[in-house]
Amino acid sequence: MATIEIDGKSVEITPGQSTIIEVADQMGIDIPRFCYHKKLSVAANCRMCLVEVEKSPKALPACATPVSDGMKVWTKSAKTRAAQKSVMEFLLINHPLDCPICDQGGECELQDVALEYGKDASRYTEGKRSVADQNLGPLIATDMTRCIHCTRCIRFGTEIAGLAEMGATGRGEHMRIGTYIEQNVASEVSGNMIDVCPVGALTAKPYRFTARGWELRQSFSVSPHDALGSHLSVHTRGGKVMRVVPREADTINENWISDRDRFSYEGLYSPQRLTEPMLKNASGQWEVVSWSSALSAVIERSPSCQAWVSPSATLEEGYLLNSLLQHLQSAPFEYRLRQQDFSAQKITQSLCEIRPSLGIAVADIKAQSAIFLVGCDIHQEQPVLALRLRQAALAETKVFALNPFQVEIRFPVKQQFVPEAGHLSHALACIAKAIMEIVGKHNCPPNAWDWLADIHPEPEHIDMAKEWCASPNTLIVLGALAIAHPDYSHLLSLVQLIAHITNGRVGLLPIGANHLGLSLLSKQKTAQSSKAPVRTQWLWGIDPAIDCITPDCLAQISESECVVAATAFRSEALDARAHVYLPIAPFYESGGTFVNMEGRVQTVNPVATCQGEAKPGWKVLRVIGNLLGLSDLRFDTLQSVSKAAIAEIGDISTPPKAINTDTWQSPTETVHKKKAQAKDNYVCIAPMAIYRIDALSRSAEALQNTMASSTPIARLHPETVKAHQLQAGQALKLTNARGQHIHCAYESDIKVPHHSIVLNAGFAHTAQFIPYETLTIEAIT
Ligand code: SF4
Ligand code: SF4
Ligand code: FES
Repeated sequence: MATIEIDGKSVEITPGQSTIIEVADQMGIDIPRFCYHKKLSVAANCRMCLVEVEKSPKALPACATPVSDGMKVWTKSAKTRAAQKSVMEFLLINHPLDCPICDQGGECELQDVALEYGKDASRYTEGKRSVADQNLGPLIATDMTRCIHCTRCIRFGTEIAGLAEMGATGRGEHMRIGTYIEQNVASEVSGNMIDVCPVGALTAKPYRFTARGWELRQSFSVSPHDALGSHLSVHTRGGKVMRVVPREADTINENWISDRDRFSYEGLYSPQRLTEPMLKNASGQWEVVSWSSALSAVIERSPSCQAWVSPSATLEEGYLLNSLLQHLQSAPFEYRLRQQDFSAQKITQSLCEIRPSLGIAVADIKAQSAIFLVGCDIHQEQPVLALRLRQAALAETKVFALNPFQVEIRFPVKQQFVPEAGHLSHALACIAKAIMEIVGKHNCPPNAWDWLADIHPEPEHIDMAKEWCASPNTLIVLGALAIAHPDYSHLLSLVQLIAHITNGRVGLLPIGANHLGLSLLSKQKTAQSSKAPVRTQWLWGIDPAIDCITPDCLAQISESECVVAATAFRSEALDARAHVYLPIAPFYESGGTFVNMEGRVQTVNPVATCQGEAKPGWKVLRVIGNLLGLSDLRFDTLQSVSKAAIAEIGDISTPPKAINTDTWQSPTETVHKKKAQAKDNYVCIAPMAIYRIDALSRSAEALQNTMASSTPIARLHPETVKAHQLQAGQALKLTNARGQHIHCAYESDIKVPHHSIVLNAGFAHTAQFIPYETLTIEAIT
């Protein structure tokens, strides 16, 4: 093994270390740097890391100089200091040095390094260069005069995010970093450019000029949105969240977080925030009441209730709610709000246990030889997980996809199947049959052949089947577009069949921060909530009009005598339908436990002060339990509830039960033949808009000002536009079979297949349409 010496200390080079800076970092020896970032490629353009190396006439850049056996390096010698000081002097020629009015002041890499290596006064008297700023949208503020051209932001975009939004134009004095033509950055992980920027050129717009680094208290938390459980550092001042930044977690989110994780905290202080208990009076007006009055109203109506719970509710809330419902002999709570086909539960009993989990550790994604994304818009659903997939796809993993429209995937995909009119199950059946034909009769459950007798794979399916069968380590991942599909049970059966005959695994991407945790808590005794009439509907952290696609949910809520909305945010639909408002604290204020998609249990403390009269959900449920005289709900601390809730879900390290071939039953109903689509009928494909996924994101101002949250427009295949003779700028009337309609704008999009309309979900405007239902189009003249 090679040995090198840095500042007189010898060290053996461990595998993976190839440059001087990597070895020095490992030894805890500080070398100043601007362009080097351990997760990005080496650019070696700032020269700040110059160090003296034996036998080299000039100082060498530590980030770009490979280590070799016997090398001697000095990071503090006179030669090193002189080289670094002259680089700093050059860097500051054009830098404005307006630290007192710079948002980065106090936490700026350039400021820190300049303090140590800079001179008191500049030798240059020429005017400084100034650069016009660009508007990059509502999330990132720019002060490009401060840019030192390190290109970290450019490399983040091209290497990590897969979206080259920033680039460099011009040379030398005229070099500019920007978006070429002025436009908003659209990546869902764009905020990471703020973190990698070593100066105050890119800063967070919502946080800008609100606090200084030294005023803030830093606390640990995890993401309250997707089920990756990204580690976060939440910065607060006086109990108020001022900003959220990533905390390094190499096996989960590495150094990155999504913009949703970074900017959703703004929702905590939005006007929609519910801060006091309220009751609707006899004339339908909302009145602020005391907690005791609100809880008395709830207790009166509690017997015979049903609960609809956000998949981002904490394990503690789920545990207490479940206990409460069991005492009241009510059905288990329902958390599968964006699912409409529940028959999968019965069909797959003999296949394997269904868990909304990835099926493997997040860090093991790159070890998969092939991954098949089914009904999954990965960048929109799981922005940070998509970065892992990208790394894997850029290495050796072959990625295939099957989607109801061509989703934008920012990494190499071998094949993306886009069947017409949302016929995912037919395309998947073709792939399954092609795989069965390759592996042969002996390895396939006999009834699978009968089940797929009418299926005839096309050459494209056979091509994929060949590649799939040649891959030793495979993972099929079902996403939100599959879970919301009316054929979900068949999709699930088919992926399990493929996984079984090819020795692969199946993952189900959770929807919400704690989908897996709640599924483990819920005993799943019933596939759907009881149809028996109930007096009270409990809504826990949801806006039913937007969060539920089950028509049953809205119908039952409308028919119910009383609707109790335990929520942190008001909405029009809740104002209209609820009778009691209980202000529960969002995750940052309540703390609690989430189980991430790989089964990792993460408990965090509250990091911010509850707003107004809002109380943590676990405390509210505990008091309701006490008022109902339930002794086993008497918990005094969050830790004690967490302990009980974690004990309840048991050991989740064991993988789900394997598929049992002997008892495997194919679904009886053959839905795999392509259904003929009436000429003027279009299937409504409704991907959830990324910043509309839960009430916290929906209340965050900057996220709502992004293009991704703009009013949905119907995306149509160009042939559809032609068939209906639609003119540019013309509005459409879309009507479903129940006679409900909306008016909206349209755009022609070749990525949308025939007989389909892509219309974003997550908005009150489009909420009346159930995913994959049939719509008709009418041009408004
Ligand atoms: Fe000062 Fe850093 Fe801002 Fe430059 S980028 S003005 S050095 S705080
Ligand atoms: Fe580097 Fe920041 Fe300039 Fe990008 S904007 S090149 S990250 S200094
Ligand atoms: Fe080495 Fe920039 S950090 S050249």
